[in-house]
Amino acid sequence: MKLARRVLELAESATLAVSAKAARLKSEGIDVISFGAGEPDFDTPELIKASGICAIKEGQTRYPKPASGLIEAKQAVCQKLARENSLKYTPDQVIITTGGKMAVYLAVNALIDPGDEVLIPKPYWVSYPEIVKLAGGEPVFVMGAEENSYKLSAVELAAAVSDRTRMVLLNSPSNPSGVTYTPDEIRSLAEVLSRRDLMVVSDEIYDRLLYDGHETLSYAAAGDRAFSQTVTINSASKTYAMTGWRIAYVAGPTEVIKAMAKLQSQTTSGAATFTQVAMATALTADQAPVEAMRTEFERRGRHMHERLTAMKGVRCAKPTGAFYCFPNVAGAYRKLGVSGSAAFADRLLTEANVAVVPGVAFGMDDHVRLSFAASMQQIDAGLDRIEAFLR
Ligand SMILES: Cc1ncc(COP(=O)(O)O)c(C=O)c1O
Repeated sequence: MKLARRVLELAESATLAVSAKAARLKSEGIDVISFGAGEPDFDTPELIKASGICAIKEGQTRYPKPASGLIEAKQAVCQKLARENSLKYTPDQVIITTGGKMAVYLAVNALIDPGDEVLIPKPYWVSYPEIVKLAGGEPVFVMGAEENSYKLSAVELAAAVSDRTRMVLLNSPSNPSGVTYTPDEIRSLAEVLSRRDLMVVSDEIYDRLLYDGHETLSYAAAGDRAFSQTVTINSASKTYAMTGWRIAYVAGPTEVIKAMAKLQSQTTSGAATFTQVAMATALTADQAPVEAMRTEFERRGRHMHERLTAMKGVRCAKPTGAFYCFPNVAGAYRKLGVSGSAAFADRLLTEANVAVVPGVAFGMDDHVRLSFAASMQQIDAGLDRIEAFLR
Protein backbone atom coordinates (compact mmCIF):
# COMPACT_ATOMS: atom_id res chain seq x y z
CA MET A 1 0.00 0.00 0.00
CA LYS A 2 1.26 3.46 -0.83
CA LEU A 3 0.89 5.95 1.98
CA ALA A 4 1.11 9.69 1.48
CA ARG A 5 4.57 11.20 1.84
CA ARG A 6 3.32 13.79 4.32
CA VAL A 7 2.33 11.00 6.71
CA LEU A 8 5.45 8.93 6.15
CA GLU A 9 7.56 11.97 7.02
CA LEU A 10 5.59 12.69 10.16
CA ALA A 11 7.25 11.79 13.48
CA GLU A 12 5.10 9.79 15.86
CA SER A 13 4.22 11.57 19.09
CA ALA A 14 7.00 10.49 21.50
CA THR A 15 4.84 11.23 24.50
CA LEU A 16 2.26 8.74 23.30
CA ALA A 17 4.94 6.17 22.39
CA VAL A 18 6.34 6.14 25.96
CA SER A 19 2.88 5.83 27.50
CA ALA A 20 2.20 2.89 25.15
CA LYS A 21 5.34 1.02 26.24
CA ALA A 22 4.67 1.77 29.91
CA ALA A 23 1.10 0.49 29.46
CA ARG A 24 2.40 -2.71 27.86
CA LEU A 25 4.78 -3.38 30.77
CA LYS A 26 1.96 -2.67 33.23
CA SER A 27 -0.31 -5.12 31.44
CA GLU A 28 2.43 -7.72 31.92
CA GLY A 29 2.10 -7.17 35.66
CA ILE A 30 5.18 -4.96 36.08
CA ASP A 31 4.89 -2.14 38.63
CA VAL A 32 5.71 0.85 36.42
CA ILE A 33 5.76 4.38 37.80
CA SER A 34 4.90 6.80 35.04
CA PHE A 35 6.09 10.37 34.82
CA GLY A 36 5.07 10.43 31.17
CA ALA A 37 1.59 11.90 31.52
CA GLY A 38 0.83 15.19 29.84
CA GLU A 39 -2.47 15.54 31.64
CA PRO A 40 -3.69 16.36 35.15
CA ASP A 41 -4.27 13.34 37.36
CA PHE A 42 -7.36 15.08 38.77
CA ASP A 43 -10.91 14.46 37.67
CA THR A 44 -12.92 17.16 35.87
CA PRO A 45 -14.60 19.29 38.60
CA GLU A 46 -18.18 18.15 39.38
CA LEU A 47 -19.84 21.40 38.36
CA ILE A 48 -18.32 21.19 34.87
CA LYS A 49 -19.29 17.55 34.47
CA ALA A 50 -22.84 18.37 35.58
CA SER A 51 -23.01 21.17 33.02
CA GLY A 52 -21.98 18.82 30.18
CA ILE A 53 -24.44 16.14 31.30
CA CYS A 54 -27.25 18.68 31.61
CA ALA A 55 -26.48 19.99 28.11
CA ILE A 56 -26.80 16.47 26.70
CA LYS A 57 -30.08 15.91 28.56
CA GLU A 58 -31.41 19.19 27.23
CA GLY A 59 -30.71 18.08 23.68
CA GLN A 60 -27.52 20.01 22.93
CA THR A 61 -26.39 17.08 20.83
CA ARG A 62 -26.60 18.40 17.30
CA TYR A 63 -23.98 20.00 15.08
CA PRO A 64 -22.46 23.06 16.71
CA LYS A 65 -23.87 26.16 15.04
CA PRO A 66 -21.95 27.93 13.77
CA ALA A 67 -19.00 25.56 13.24
CA SER A 68 -16.71 28.20 14.74
CA GLY A 69 -18.43 27.76 18.11
CA LEU A 70 -21.55 28.53 20.15
CA ILE A 71 -22.05 32.17 21.01
CA GLU A 72 -22.24 31.40 24.76
CA ALA A 73 -18.87 29.63 24.61
CA LYS A 74 -17.31 32.56 22.72
CA GLN A 75 -18.76 35.03 25.22
CA ALA A 76 -17.33 33.00 28.11
CA VAL A 77 -13.92 33.08 26.41
CA CYS A 78 -14.15 36.87 26.01
CA GLN A 79 -14.98 37.14 29.72
CA LYS A 80 -12.00 34.99 30.69
CA LEU A 81 -9.57 36.90 28.50
CA ALA A 82 -10.81 40.26 29.85
CA ARG A 83 -10.85 39.13 33.49
CA GLU A 84 -7.54 37.30 33.63
CA ASN A 85 -5.44 38.61 30.75
CA SER A 86 -6.66 42.21 30.30
CA LEU A 87 -7.51 41.39 26.68
CA LYS A 88 -10.60 42.87 25.04
CA TYR A 89 -11.95 40.56 22.36
CA THR A 90 -15.41 40.33 20.82
CA PRO A 91 -17.02 36.97 19.97
CA ASP A 92 -16.21 37.38 16.24
CA GLN A 93 -12.53 37.34 17.23
CA VAL A 94 -12.88 33.92 18.90
CA ILE A 95 -13.07 30.34 17.63
CA ILE A 96 -13.81 27.22 19.69
CA THR A 97 -11.79 24.18 18.60
CA THR A 98 -11.52 20.47 19.36
CA GLY A 99 -8.54 20.94 21.69
CA GLY A 100 -5.44 23.09 21.74
CA LYS A 101 -3.61 20.82 19.31
CA MET A 102 -6.26 21.42 16.65
CA ALA A 103 -6.08 25.13 17.48
CA VAL A 104 -2.35 25.17 16.66
CA TYR A 105 -3.03 23.13 13.51
CA LEU A 106 -5.71 25.56 12.30
CA ALA A 107 -3.66 28.68 13.12
CA VAL A 108 -0.60 27.36 11.28
CA ASN A 109 -2.64 26.23 8.28
CA ALA A 110 -4.47 29.55 8.12
CA LEU A 111 -1.22 31.54 8.05
CA ILE A 112 1.62 29.48 6.60
CA ASP A 113 2.39 28.85 2.94
CA PRO A 114 4.93 26.29 1.68
CA GLY A 115 8.44 27.64 2.22
CA ASP A 116 7.48 30.09 4.99
CA GLU A 117 9.71 29.94 8.04
CA VAL A 118 8.27 29.46 11.50
CA LEU A 119 10.53 30.28 14.42
CA ILE A 120 10.20 27.75 17.23
CA PRO A 121 12.09 28.20 20.52
CA LYS A 122 13.69 25.09 22.00
CA PRO A 123 12.71 23.11 23.95
CA TYR A 124 9.42 23.00 22.08
CA TRP A 125 6.16 21.15 22.49
CA VAL A 126 6.43 17.98 20.37
CA SER A 127 3.69 18.78 17.89
CA TYR A 128 4.84 22.25 16.75
CA PRO A 129 7.46 21.20 14.18
CA GLU A 130 5.28 18.42 12.78
CA ILE A 131 2.27 20.69 12.37
CA VAL A 132 4.43 23.31 10.63
CA LYS A 133 5.89 20.67 8.29
CA LEU A 134 2.42 19.32 7.46
CA ALA A 135 1.52 22.82 6.25
CA GLY A 136 4.68 22.88 4.10
CA GLY A 137 6.37 25.41 6.38
CA GLU A 138 9.97 25.24 7.55
CA PRO A 139 10.55 25.07 11.30
CA VAL A 140 13.58 27.11 12.39
CA PHE A 141 14.78 26.45 15.92
CA VAL A 142 16.31 28.90 18.36
CA MET A 143 17.37 28.47 21.96
CA GLY A 144 18.23 30.74 24.88
CA ALA A 145 21.10 30.15 27.32
CA GLU A 146 20.88 27.37 29.90
CA GLU A 147 21.62 29.96 32.65
CA ASN A 148 18.42 31.72 31.57
CA SER A 149 16.46 28.44 31.67
CA TYR A 150 16.58 28.44 27.82
CA LYS A 151 14.37 31.52 27.64
CA LEU A 152 15.14 33.80 24.71
CA SER A 153 16.51 37.27 25.28
CA ALA A 154 15.44 40.08 22.95
CA VAL A 155 18.90 39.99 21.34
CA GLU A 156 18.74 36.25 20.68
CA LEU A 157 15.25 36.58 19.23
CA ALA A 158 16.22 39.50 16.98
CA ALA A 159 19.19 37.51 15.65
CA ALA A 160 17.00 34.51 14.85
CA VAL A 161 14.25 36.31 12.91
CA SER A 162 14.86 36.40 9.16
CA ASP A 163 13.08 38.00 6.20
CA ARG A 164 11.35 34.68 5.61
CA THR A 165 10.03 34.34 9.18
CA ARG A 166 6.25 34.48 8.93
CA MET A 167 5.42 33.20 12.40
CA VAL A 168 6.88 32.82 15.87
CA LEU A 169 5.42 30.05 18.01
CA LEU A 170 5.67 30.93 21.70
CA ASN A 171 4.70 28.73 24.62
CA SER A 172 4.83 30.07 28.16
CA PRO A 173 4.59 28.41 30.67
CA SER A 174 6.46 25.81 28.69
CA ASN A 175 5.82 22.19 28.00
CA PRO A 176 8.38 20.56 28.51
CA SER A 177 10.51 22.84 30.70
CA GLY A 178 7.89 24.35 33.02
CA VAL A 179 9.68 27.65 32.51
CA THR A 180 7.68 30.89 32.24
CA TYR A 181 8.57 34.28 30.78
CA THR A 182 8.11 37.24 33.15
CA PRO A 183 5.95 40.20 32.03
CA ASP A 184 9.11 42.25 31.34
CA GLU A 185 10.61 39.46 29.27
CA ILE A 186 7.39 39.20 27.22
CA ARG A 187 7.45 42.96 26.65
CA SER A 188 11.07 42.84 25.46
CA LEU A 189 10.26 40.06 22.97
CA ALA A 190 7.22 42.02 21.77
CA GLU A 191 9.42 45.08 21.29
CA VAL A 192 11.53 43.07 18.81
CA LEU A 193 8.66 41.39 16.99
CA SER A 194 6.47 44.48 16.74
CA ARG A 195 8.89 45.83 14.14
CA ARG A 196 8.47 42.76 11.91
CA ASP A 197 5.83 41.70 9.45
CA LEU A 198 4.94 38.38 11.04
CA MET A 199 2.37 36.74 13.30
CA VAL A 200 2.87 35.38 16.79
CA VAL A 201 1.03 32.28 17.91
CA SER A 202 1.06 32.34 21.69
CA ASP A 203 0.18 29.01 23.25
CA GLU A 204 -0.91 29.88 26.78
CA ILE A 205 -2.63 26.69 27.77
CA TYR A 206 -0.77 26.50 31.10
CA ASP A 207 -1.42 30.15 32.02
CA ARG A 208 -3.35 29.30 35.20
CA LEU A 209 -0.72 26.89 36.50
CA LEU A 210 1.90 29.30 37.86
CA TYR A 211 3.96 28.72 40.99
CA ASP A 212 5.81 30.53 43.76
CA GLY A 213 4.11 33.86 43.04
CA HIS A 214 5.41 33.90 39.48
CA GLU A 215 3.50 36.23 37.18
CA THR A 216 3.29 36.33 33.44
CA LEU A 217 1.72 38.42 30.72
CA SER A 218 -0.41 37.26 27.86
CA TYR A 219 1.68 38.08 24.78
CA ALA A 220 -1.19 39.96 23.09
CA ALA A 221 -1.39 42.26 26.13
CA ALA A 222 2.14 43.57 25.51
CA GLY A 223 0.84 46.50 23.45
CA ASP A 224 -1.43 47.49 20.53
CA ARG A 225 0.93 46.09 17.90
CA ALA A 226 1.31 42.81 19.83
CA PHE A 227 -2.50 42.61 20.07
CA SER A 228 -2.95 42.89 16.31
CA GLN A 229 -0.08 40.46 15.61
CA THR A 230 -1.12 37.67 17.94
CA VAL A 231 -3.22 34.56 17.85
CA THR A 232 -3.73 33.46 21.47
CA ILE A 233 -4.38 29.78 22.10
CA ASN A 234 -5.80 28.38 25.30
CA SER A 235 -7.55 25.17 26.28
CA ALA A 236 -9.76 23.67 28.96
CA SER A 237 -7.56 20.55 28.99
CA LYS A 238 -4.97 21.42 31.63
CA THR A 239 -6.67 24.20 33.63
CA TYR A 240 -9.89 22.30 34.23
CA ALA A 241 -8.63 18.72 33.92
CA MET A 242 -10.68 18.26 30.73
CA THR A 243 -8.19 16.56 28.40
CA GLY A 244 -10.72 13.99 27.21
CA TRP A 245 -13.40 16.55 26.41
CA ARG A 246 -11.31 17.93 23.51
CA ILE A 247 -12.18 21.56 23.87
CA ALA A 248 -10.11 24.72 23.50
CA TYR A 249 -10.28 28.26 22.17
CA VAL A 250 -8.41 30.83 20.16
CA ALA A 251 -8.63 34.63 20.03
CA GLY A 252 -7.03 36.83 17.42
CA PRO A 253 -7.59 39.23 14.54
CA THR A 254 -11.00 38.70 12.88
CA GLU A 255 -9.43 37.88 9.51
CA VAL A 256 -7.33 35.06 10.96
CA ILE A 257 -10.20 33.70 13.03
CA LYS A 258 -12.43 33.70 9.93
CA ALA A 259 -9.79 31.78 7.98
CA MET A 260 -9.48 29.25 10.80
CA ALA A 261 -13.27 28.92 10.94
CA LYS A 262 -13.34 28.19 7.20
CA LEU A 263 -10.79 25.40 7.70
CA GLN A 264 -12.71 24.09 10.70
CA SER A 265 -15.98 24.02 8.75
CA GLN A 266 -14.32 21.76 6.16
CA THR A 267 -12.62 19.45 8.67
CA THR A 268 -14.04 18.78 12.14
CA SER A 269 -17.24 20.89 11.79
CA GLY A 270 -16.38 22.26 15.23
CA ALA A 271 -16.17 21.03 18.81
CA ALA A 272 -18.94 18.86 20.28
CA THR A 273 -21.85 21.08 21.30
CA PHE A 274 -22.19 19.90 24.90
CA THR A 275 -18.45 20.18 25.58
CA GLN A 276 -18.69 23.81 24.51
CA VAL A 277 -21.43 24.35 27.09
CA ALA A 278 -19.28 22.65 29.74
CA MET A 279 -16.29 24.84 28.86
CA ALA A 280 -18.43 27.97 29.11
CA THR A 281 -19.38 26.85 32.63
CA ALA A 282 -15.74 26.12 33.47
CA LEU A 283 -14.63 29.58 32.37
CA THR A 284 -17.36 31.52 34.15
CA ALA A 285 -18.06 29.51 37.34
CA ASP A 286 -16.22 29.64 40.67
CA GLN A 287 -12.51 29.09 39.96
CA ALA A 288 -11.77 27.47 43.35
CA PRO A 289 -11.16 23.98 41.85
CA VAL A 290 -8.41 25.44 39.63
CA GLU A 291 -6.69 26.97 42.66
CA ALA A 292 -6.90 23.67 44.53
CA MET A 293 -5.20 21.83 41.63
CA ARG A 294 -2.63 24.61 41.19
CA THR A 295 -1.65 24.50 44.88
CA GLU A 296 -1.18 20.76 44.73
CA PHE A 297 0.92 20.96 41.54
CA GLU A 298 3.05 23.66 43.17
CA ARG A 299 3.79 21.43 46.18
CA ARG A 300 4.68 18.47 43.98
CA GLY A 301 6.75 20.49 41.53
CA ARG A 302 8.89 22.03 44.29
CA HIS A 303 9.47 18.61 45.79
CA MET A 304 10.35 16.93 42.49
CA HIS A 305 12.71 19.76 41.56
CA GLU A 306 14.44 19.65 44.95
CA ARG A 307 15.00 15.93 44.75
CA LEU A 308 16.15 15.95 41.12
CA THR A 309 18.71 18.71 41.65
CA ALA A 310 20.10 16.82 44.66
CA MET A 311 20.99 13.89 42.36
CA LYS A 312 24.56 13.67 41.18
CA GLY A 313 25.10 14.97 37.65
CA VAL A 314 21.52 16.23 37.25
CA ARG A 315 20.75 19.90 36.48
CA CYS A 316 17.22 21.21 36.27
CA ALA A 317 15.58 24.60 35.79
CA LYS A 318 12.92 25.27 38.42
CA PRO A 319 9.42 24.90 36.98
CA THR A 320 7.55 28.16 37.46
CA GLY A 321 4.49 26.89 35.60
CA ALA A 322 2.85 23.87 33.86
CA PHE A 323 3.51 20.49 35.51
CA TYR A 324 6.86 19.29 34.22
CA CYS A 325 10.52 19.11 35.27
CA PHE A 326 13.01 18.90 32.39
CA PRO A 327 16.33 17.85 33.89
CA ASN A 328 19.60 17.59 31.99
CA VAL A 329 20.71 13.99 32.58
CA ALA A 330 23.54 13.83 30.03
CA GLY A 331 26.02 13.57 32.92
CA ALA A 332 24.89 9.94 33.30
CA TYR A 333 25.06 8.93 29.61
CA ARG A 334 28.71 7.84 29.54
CA LYS A 335 28.49 5.68 32.66
CA LEU A 336 25.31 4.04 31.37
CA GLY A 337 26.78 3.62 27.91
CA VAL A 338 23.88 5.42 26.20
CA SER A 339 24.18 8.00 23.49
CA GLY A 340 20.99 9.99 23.95
CA SER A 341 17.72 10.58 25.76
CA ALA A 342 15.74 7.86 23.93
CA ALA A 343 18.19 5.14 24.99
CA PHE A 344 18.34 6.64 28.50
CA ALA A 345 14.52 6.62 28.84
CA ASP A 346 14.34 3.09 27.47
CA ARG A 347 16.93 1.80 29.97
CA LEU A 348 15.21 3.64 32.83
CA LEU A 349 11.87 2.09 31.87
CA THR A 350 13.22 -1.42 31.37
CA GLU A 351 15.62 -1.53 34.34
CA ALA A 352 14.04 0.77 36.93
CA ASN A 353 10.44 0.66 35.66
CA VAL A 354 10.09 4.42 35.55
CA ALA A 355 8.59 6.08 32.47
CA VAL A 356 9.90 9.50 31.41
CA VAL A 357 9.76 11.20 28.01
CA PRO A 358 13.04 11.52 26.05
CA GLY A 359 14.07 15.15 25.57
CA VAL A 360 14.89 14.51 21.92
CA ALA A 361 11.14 14.73 21.27
CA PHE A 362 11.32 18.35 22.45
CA GLY A 363 14.49 19.11 20.51
CA MET A 364 16.93 18.55 23.41
CA ASP A 365 18.67 15.21 23.60
CA ASP A 366 20.48 15.87 26.91
CA HIS A 367 17.20 16.04 28.80
CA VAL A 368 14.20 13.99 29.82
CA ARG A 369 10.75 15.24 30.83
CA LEU A 370 9.08 14.20 34.06
CA SER A 371 5.47 15.13 34.69
CA PHE A 372 4.45 15.85 38.26
CA ALA A 373 0.82 15.13 37.48
CA ALA A 374 1.25 12.14 39.79
CA SER A 375 0.63 11.62 43.52
CA MET A 376 3.33 12.63 46.01
CA GLN A 377 3.75 8.98 46.94
CA GLN A 378 4.33 8.01 43.28
CA ILE A 379 6.71 10.93 42.86
CA ASP A 380 8.83 9.82 45.80
CA ALA A 381 8.79 6.16 44.81
CA GLY A 382 9.77 7.02 41.22
CA LEU A 383 12.52 9.39 42.28
CA ASP A 384 13.92 6.76 44.67
CA ARG A 385 14.20 4.44 41.66
CA ILE A 386 15.83 7.08 39.48
CA GLU A 387 18.32 7.90 42.23
CA ALA A 388 19.27 4.24 42.53
CA PHE A 389 19.47 3.89 38.73
CA LEU A 390 21.86 6.84 38.46
CA ARG A 391 24.05 5.79 41.38
C1 LIG B 1 2.03 23.35 25.02
C2 LIG B 1 0.82 22.58 24.64
N1 LIG B 1 0.01 23.08 23.69
C3 LIG B 1 -1.10 22.41 23.31
C4 LIG B 1 -1.44 21.21 23.87
C5 LIG B 1 -2.70 20.54 23.38
O1 LIG B 1 -3.62 20.35 24.37
P1 LIG B 1 -5.12 19.93 24.05
O2 LIG B 1 -5.18 19.52 22.63
O3 LIG B 1 -5.44 18.81 24.99
O4 LIG B 1 -5.95 21.15 24.34
C6 LIG B 1 -0.61 20.62 24.83
C7 LIG B 1 -0.91 19.30 25.39
O5 LIG B 1 -0.08 18.62 25.95
C8 LIG B 1 0.54 21.35 25.25
O6 LIG B 1 1.34 20.87 26.20
